Amino acid sequence: MRFFLPLALALASCAPALPTVTDADRAWARNAFPETADDLGDSRVLYATKCSGCHMLVLPRRVPQREWPVIMEKMAPKSKLLSSEHAQILRYVLTASRPGQLPPE
Ligand code: HEC
Repeated sequence: MRFFLPLALALASCAPALPTVTDADRAWARNAFPETADDLGDSRVLYATKCSGCHMLVLPRRVPQREWPVIMEKMAPKSKLLSSEHAQILRYVLTASRPGQLPPE
């Protein structure tokens, strides 16, 4: 344990923090996806769960918003997403990568 705990902490600190859903995110999503804005919080968890199996989780804002639909077409089968999960994750990444979000660090 003496050895593993610091190692685990070091690894955890390398992982980029996936932004939590803010009120501004919800406001934007309510406008863009009127029926479903309230599922953003769940979408974030789904994204973190389904999209980190093969590579580091990609911060949504590291990819231009317009590229996300194509990437999701490619990645959804890799993650074996249901079409509802595909749509949910897409809403989260589109919200989190919308223009005006902080640029990549
Ligand atoms: C089964 C493994 C696997 C899973 C699960 C997976 N990916 Fe990927 N991902 C890859 C591979 C391999 C690449 C690089 C080569 C490529 O583009 O196919 C990649 C590349 C990417 C890229 C870089 C852009 C690109 O097109 O090359 C992004 C962004 C990405 N994945 C997002 C996601 C998201 C979002 C999910 C969840 C829906 C996901 N990945 C799930 C294997 C996976």
